[in-house]
Amino acid sequence: MRVLICEDAAAAARRTADLLCAQVAARADAVLGLATGGTMEPVYALLRARCAAGTLDLSRVTTFNLDEYIGLPQDHPQSYRATIQRMLFDAARIPPERGHFPDGTAPDPGAASAQYEGLIAAAGGIDLQLLGIGENGHIGFNEPTSSLGSRTRPKTLTQSTRAANARFFGPDEKAPRFAITMGIATVLDARACVLIATGHKKAAAVAAAIEGPVSAVCPASALQMHPAATLLLDPEAAADLTLREYYDTVHPGGGEAPL
Ligand code: F6R
Repeated sequence: MRVLICEDAAAAARRTADLLCAQVAARADAVLGLATGGTMEPVYALLRARCAAGTLDLSRVTTFNLDEYIGLPQDHPQSYRATIQRMLFDAARIPPERGHFPDGTAPDPGAASAQYEGLIAAAGGIDLQLLGIGENGHIGFNEPTSSLGSRTRPKTLTQSTRAANARFFGPDEKAPRFAITMGIATVLDARACVLIATGHKKAAAVAAAIEGPVSAVCPASALQMHPAATLLLDPEAAADLTLREYYDTVHPGGGEAPL
């Protein structure tokens, strides 16, 4: 695991955007796994700006969103499809046929999940998977106790996740109870994983993910098994790490130290 503790949240977002840009520079037709959530918003703002400035071209990438709510119409502003359309696709001119989303409106969410796995495999697998982390350690919507061997499937969201997501919904709306999410094993199949966490609310989950045992109780801890996982943190999200000094030595300021 590369643990990069950046100067602040803006720097963590910048480094996350840089890693995605490096992937696309290495392979213009890269297959990208995309996350949503508040932490990702500054990352997508940077990517939009780079596309507008002509320094980033996402027109040849293929994308797979990590998860989608079940039961929200696709054009609901808080569906993850609509969210990523707004946050990235419109500005980045990613052709609609290259963007893939779990179908949260499918009559058979289990079958739609299996189909999604097939589409990822047919695309040759994911080159780089972007991830956030829940306060309870979830990645995607793999809630605590999700099997470390899980594949894309419907999941019931925990009360704490629904409460955290309620901020995106109106006072008269209920945050959805169910979602389709890539599984933990699906995420681990990506050739590289990049997780960004900012803010003190993530500190306990981040410490469990990096320094705790690999356990289904903290799904993000599965990234310890991944050969190319990078975690980008701001100082608040890194606050509970015991080996902070070591991470700062290996990656001063979240950068690379010469060997
Ligand atoms: C979103 C997703 C979730 C979020 C996580 C953090 O696609 O898969 O795992 O990354 O819930 O959300 P924020 O960034 O809103 O705290």
